[in-house]
Amino acid sequence: MNNSFKSNLPVNQAEGDCLLLAVYADNTLSAAAEVANKASNGAIKAFLEYGDFTGKTDESLMLYDVAGLQCKRTLLVGCGDKAEFDVFKLGDAVKAAMSKLANKNIEVIVSYLGDEFADQADAVVMQSILSAADARYQFTVHKTENNEAPLKQGLVIAFTAAVADASGTLVQAEGIAAGSAFARDLSNQPGNICHPTYLAEAAKDLGTQFENLSVEILEEADMETLGMGSLLSVSLGSDQPAKLIVLKYNGAADDQAPIALVGKGVTFDTGGISLKPGLNMDEMKFDMGGAASVFGSVKACAEMKLAINVVGVIGAVENMPSARATRPGDIVKSMSGTTIEVLNTDAEGRLVLCDALTYVGKYKPKLVIDIATLTGACIVALGRDICALLANDQELADDILKSGRTIGDTAWQLPLHASYKKLLKSAHADLGNIGGPAAGTITAACFLSHFTKDYRWAHLDVAGTAWTGKDATGRPVPLLTQFLIDQA
Ligand code: BES
Ligand code: MN
Ligand code: ZN
Repeated sequence: MNNSFKSNLPVNQAEGDCLLLAVYADNTLSAAAEVANKASNGAIKAFLEYGDFTGKTDESLMLYDVAGLQCKRTLLVGCGDKAEFDVFKLGDAVKAAMSKLANKNIEVIVSYLGDEFADQADAVVMQSILSAADARYQFTVHKTENNEAPLKQGLVIAFTAAVADASGTLVQAEGIAAGSAFARDLSNQPGNICHPTYLAEAAKDLGTQFENLSVEILEEADMETLGMGSLLSVSLGSDQPAKLIVLKYNGAADDQAPIALVGKGVTFDTGGISLKPGLNMDEMKFDMGGAASVFGSVKACAEMKLAINVVGVIGAVENMPSARATRPGDIVKSMSGTTIEVLNTDAEGRLVLCDALTYVGKYKPKLVIDIATLTGACIVALGRDICALLANDQELADDILKSGRTIGDTAWQLPLHASYKKLLKSAHADLGNIGGPAAGTITAACFLSHFTKDYRWAHLDVAGTAWTGKDATGRPVPLLTQFLIDQA
């Protein structure tokens, strides 16, 4: 698969197996489609006269051997209302077109779908590459039948006008796409394969691929020595040993403080003794989506050789019920010294994160972002399109929100108001691990904020966005990586 960027390329000179041209609602031709129509003596408009296609989103019309064009195929892609078409809708159009061209005898696709955003060439390249990668992604390692060939089509992102060079963005986009795909691969693996040891091995493997990426694995005995009684309490019911995984990407001078990413890596969340109901419990294999996004973002940085230092810390555990499992009411001691009454063993993510967040302090990070599929309440509040952001520093929150808007991987801020903290009180310990039925995403973040007082910190609750249906999304790798690019 080979993607490229071409400026100053007239539509009728473009070479490849298939041309993508935008047509808006009511068959309003884009400028590129207009040129193709002229070059073909009106053939495009003549085809549209049949009325089989009207330019609506998700519609398309394949034409063959259009006179005056070099490509044998021309796919007219419905882009909806022209006034509403933007670089994110462009991404959707690229994805729809790529999906339609899958498994055809096509290797090179030349897209003019973003041609009219010549002043946003970088965003066109970013969204086109990410969407194309999304369309190509398949997770078929466990399918032994009817296995479709991987989609390898390369995308040429073309502009008729002379636009500013976006080849740097192309490299970044491919890095982000590779990081997202890696996160999806890890997340989609089922719990019987992807356990904490599997994640630790994946980390070591990643470490061998890049010279400036080093990996450290802390075993349960190491964590005991450090006093991580909270993280370890989650794992007591499991036969799989917990791991604390540290990924260190060194892209800048050694004396530059790293940005820390901390991921919730619950490889399967049954709820423990506070057992979850059975319906859709299989989806709790995705409860390491936060950890997967740390893996993916670190890989993306390494791929694009970003000049920044990043330390990724992943608390990897399996939450199971057993005779050795933590009971509701048990009191555990965190690495920070704070004692916690485990009132519900299904609120395990925060028990894992609090020790990982204390541990990461030793790297004297410039700032810390944790990423976690933390609360079902987040899906109630924000649904599945936007993740929740809570922070102890407004400037950091604003920077993250902005990076999300830039790349179209959106976050929305919820208040981390001190008054919510009273909901976390415990009769006999310093903190309870649940805050009751109201504002579950906020009280979970409040719990974490108790352990992040020493640094600038933001929390992303990705319970709604890390997967859709039964497939991992790779989010928020684009948001995190864009943020790291903006910081570098
Ligand atoms: N991993 C879940 C959160 C979750 C649930 C994410 C459903 C996506 C879909 C988390 O560990 C959990 O169980 N949270 C509890 C917290 C509660 C007990 C305070 C929840 O949200 O119900
Ligand atoms: Mn849980
Ligand atoms: Zn969980």
